[in-house]
Amino acid sequence: MSKVEVLLGLQWGDEGKGKIVDVLTPRYDVIARFQGGPNAGHTLEFNGIKHVLHIIPSGIFHKEKLNVIGNGVLIEPAIFKGEIEALREKNVEPTDNLYISKKAHLILPSHRLLDAANEQAKGNAKIGSTLKGIGPAYTDKIARTGIRVGDILEFDFREKYQLLKFQHIQIAKMLKFDIDAFRINDMTLDEYEVEWMESLETLRKFKLINSEYFINKCLKDGKKVLAEGAQGSMLDIDFGSYPFVTSSSTITAGVCTGLGVAPSSIGRVMGITKAYCTRVGAGPFPTELFDATGRTLCEIGHEYGATTGRSRRCGWIDIPALRYACMLNGVTDLIVTKPDVMNDFDEVKMCTDYVINDRETDEIPFEFNEVEIRPKLRSFIGWKQSLANIAKYDALPAPLLAYLSAIELHTDVRIMAVSISPDRKDVLFRN
Ligand code: GDP
Ligand code: IMO
Ligand code: MG
Repeated sequence: MSKVEVLLGLQWGDEGKGKIVDVLTPRYDVIARFQGGPNAGHTLEFNGIKHVLHIIPSGIFHKEKLNVIGNGVLIEPAIFKGEIEALREKNVEPTDNLYISKKAHLILPSHRLLDAANEQAKGNAKIGSTLKGIGPAYTDKIARTGIRVGDILEFDFREKYQLLKFQHIQIAKMLKFDIDAFRINDMTLDEYEVEWMESLETLRKFKLINSEYFINKCLKDGKKVLAEGAQGSMLDIDFGSYPFVTSSSTITAGVCTGLGVAPSSIGRVMGITKAYCTRVGAGPFPTELFDATGRTLCEIGHEYGATTGRSRRCGWIDIPALRYACMLNGVTDLIVTKPDVMNDFDEVKMCTDYVINDRETDEIPFEFNEVEIRPKLRSFIGWKQSLANIAKYDALPAPLLAYLSAIELHTDVRIMAVSISPDRKDVLFRN
């Protein structure tokens, strides 16, 4: 009996999960997404080409490996179809190595309408949602009114669809949302609905399964399964900076419900963090930099959302948040990405504690959104050199190794690998 290994983001998303999953895939038999949906944007780069995945697991470029979209994921069929077509254009045919849970919920065009209506209704308190319909679709799931992938095979699918759409329109009207002016990809709701319905055909051609049986059988047969997270721990519905969060369990616990595996079946948990910190959308960000350094991180790090193209807010690494994420997830191994972005920095800083009302703490306060948090910063000398052509972890410059050791000391978790460029080949694993 083998155990599910987990790879997830420890910050506010975009830590480099897609790249690392792609690099780790040769070590596994199955790669399974357990939560989130098209709000995710996972970037992979190899042979000079960049690929962005939203719903499809990041093991898809290894054709001998199986990829599973678990029950905890949300599928927007038209976005899914677009992703499949983009893969086919790159000569990747995923029909045989992508399985989809019948219990995964669908995002309807009217969920996307509601997402926009809810955001508009929030006025200045907007979350900065990716507007892919995530919140409303998970709301329907929990309210027991959602429609699942397996339902598209049933005779009463259209009826269920119309009923749910009707309810959504009523809510949007109640929120005084201008439905006629609403557009998805320059299409009205009705125009987009036609495209959405057509794309169900693409979905139907895939192997739609009870993925919980499949995954558990794999484990029983000794196969190696990697669970791929989306978003990050600080966007978790329970423990993130609520309400500025996404609507799913982004932490290890979400693997159990999102794939149907028991807690005792969880093995190694690999947590990813950038060497600094980013956040896209609204909400607290104690180490955010509003100065030239912040802008440099954004420019050199190409910190623009893979899903929405919005520029990401940038700041120093946040140890209290990282320690919190390691605790919540039971992280056994850390992976650090993007130190190369700071190659030219004279000085690199790390927030070791928060100062709230003149008191130091390393605990994330309940009033995270309301209180003024001053980061207590520790300074490190910069390594001032390119990391290109470095082939071994131990060969990294001494000041960077000192910085990485400090991350280990503060989190009490060993770093297993460091990524030093967007490319697949640039991950330095430690012995
Ligand atoms: P994900 O959502 O966690 O998969 O991350 P994203 O793909 O949204 O964002 C990570 C970005 O950083 C992508 O543009 C990657 O190509 C890039 N990236 C990943 N690892 C590294 C790294 O080590 N160095 C640099 N410079 N870029 C990286
Ligand atoms: P990956 O998997 C970064 C953010 C949004 C917004 C909040 C809620 O690429 O790391 P939602 O669309 O879920 O209602 O948005 O969460 N967000 C992400 N930020 N990376 C992501 O995914 C994100 N998915 C959602 O910007 O602030
Ligand atoms: Mg991303």
